[in-house]
Amino acid sequence: MVHATSSVLLLLSLALLAPGLSAKKCSLTGNWTNDLGSNMTIGAVNDKGEFGGTYLTAVADTTSNITRSPLLGIQNNTVQQPTFGFTVQWTFIESTTVFTGQCFMDKKGKEVLKTMWLLRSNVGDTGDDWKATRVGNNVFTRLK
Ligand code: BTN
Repeated sequence: MVHATSSVLLLLSLALLAPGLSAKKCSLTGNWTNDLGSNMTIGAVNDKGEFGGTYLTAVADTTSNITRSPLLGIQNNTVQQPTFGFTVQWTFIESTTVFTGQCFMDKKGKEVLKTMWLLRSNVGDTGDDWKATRVGNNVFTRLK
């Protein structure tokens, strides 16, 4: 009887723990594309949550050649669906974009990055500061 009770308790605790154990962590590492057709590659995330990568934007505020630009970021390292932020320092124009967002994983294991961004353009005069920062959002999915 004691044996049967402890088996039931063991099964019950396994059933309760299993969903938590099997939930996969949403990972930023890899190749992503967004709703504008921009592509980005994020490297390994270290134990402090820091990561680097590159960003190839599909759109820009210039007619000069768009080139791949570096990004640096950091994520929360304690949860399954981490929040993060990263900065892209554009190499073909004197502007900077910061992104913040969260990595979500659906029930089928498909990952999506929901982000918002601020794009700071370089202006020559403090009087132009009011029009120098744009805001928007992008959704990233993994590149196949
Ligand atoms: C610039 O035009 O000043 C540099 C390129 C900016 C591209 C922006 S960043 C936010 C948005 N998301 C993208 O993928 N591209 C644009």
